[in-house]
Amino acid sequence: MAEDLLLIEGTKEEQYEALLPQIKALIEGEEDLVANLANIAASLKQQFRWLWVGFYLVRNDELVLGPFQGPVACTRIQKGRGVCGKSWELASTILVPDVEKFPGHIACSSLSKSEIVLPLFVNERVMGVLDIDSEHLDSFDTTDQRFLKEIVSWINFT
Ligand code: SME
Repeated sequence: MAEDLLLIEGTKEEQYEALLPQIKALIEGEEDLVANLANIAASLKQQFRWLWVGFYLVRNDELVLGPFQGPVACTRIQKGRGVCGKSWELASTILVPDVEKFPGHIACSSLSKSEIVLPLFVNERVMGVLDIDSEHLDSFDTTDQRFLKEIVSWINFT
């Protein structure tokens, strides 16, 4: 297939609805985890132009930076630390409308104003997180949570 992404304008839902089948096409049939995480991060960054989109993966009881798009970022995050470590610990999605109001938030970039972090599961086990940062306050809501949850459910860790 051609690896060009068709970017669209419209509501957030319309953007996700156009993007999801394209991401699915990019990753289905490819079994390499790093390749798929890289293309998911790039697709989301290209469509939504967020500040930072990327993955942290659980390695020896800490989160280690994985494929991402955006400015350089912290390499390792301990369980329970920052939004990413908290999402891992709680095994749940965390929406942060204002990062300055999240106790323990790890500021990889001073430009980040709001954030969403979703855990990546295999069965009940958290294998890593998807972390997205925005330069604007209150960028993420349950619409993002719903569509991003669907995208991360396609990730094959085996
Ligand atoms: N802000 C995150 C750290 C990762 S960077 O945003 C890429 C956190 O508090 O866990």
